Amino acid sequence: MPHQQTSDGQDHSAEHSAVNRSGSRRTFIKASSATVTAAALGTVAVQVSPSASARPLTVVDEALRAGRPVSLTPACDGHETPAAAEGPLFKPESPERTNLITPGIRGVELEFTGTVYDTACTPIPGALIEFWQCDQNGDYDTTGYSLRGHQYSTSRGAFTLRTIIPRDYTGRWGTRTPHIHTKVQTPGGPVLITQLYFPDGTQAYGRDFAALNAGDGLINRACTIALTGPVNGSYKGAFDFVVKTTAP
Ligand SMILES: [Fe+2]
Repeated sequence: MPHQQTSDGQDHSAEHSAVNRSGSRRTFIKASSATVTAAALGTVAVQVSPSASARPLTVVDEALRAGRPVSLTPACDGHETPAAAEGPLFKPESPERTNLITPGIRGVELEFTGTVYDTACTPIPGALIEFWQCDQNGDYDTTGYSLRGHQYSTSRGAFTLRTIIPRDYTGRWGTRTPHIHTKVQTPGGPVLITQLYFPDGTQAYGRDFAALNAGDGLINRACTIALTGPVNGSYKGAFDFVVKTTAP
């Protein structure tokens, strides 16, 4: 479906804390029978109940038993998702679709879900969400629309994207750690332009995501997709957007 999306000239250097936590992530943590005992921005210390030993250990369980903090996608507290540079490779008029794995696309599969909220943490239906990214070789499709698409959030503000984890590439800003470019616009609202990242422990293409993340001067870790997996080589992920619904 043809669509239009325009930049509002917003300050792309704005630094705000992320404000995201998905329902699935909440459910996962609740199901682990873990008790949150302290919380800081994005990190909590937790205790595992004895009943947790009755089922297979999850990555979260192992981290807890080792005494390591578990990073959570922060809950919506009304702070906007941080903006980032658009970059030169956005193309308008992308196909409307939630699945970017078209014939010929190979890579580590990722399906991530989330909700678009306004700054009052109310889910926003009908928000236009654009995604574009490079492939498993670090290449963007500049002649067609591979790994590009747009969709609209559901009546509950939800979205799902099936895609692959992109690879790092070297360009005008040096080596960029893997990222997915995104634009989000609520009906009649300004456009949020940002980039989404991956946790240090992500396993894809034999790359060292910790080193790539650490070496990328543009990364904003508040825009990290919360991943679970890989299971059979595929990841699940969660990321919520919090956006303005009226012009500043
Ligand atoms: Fe990029």
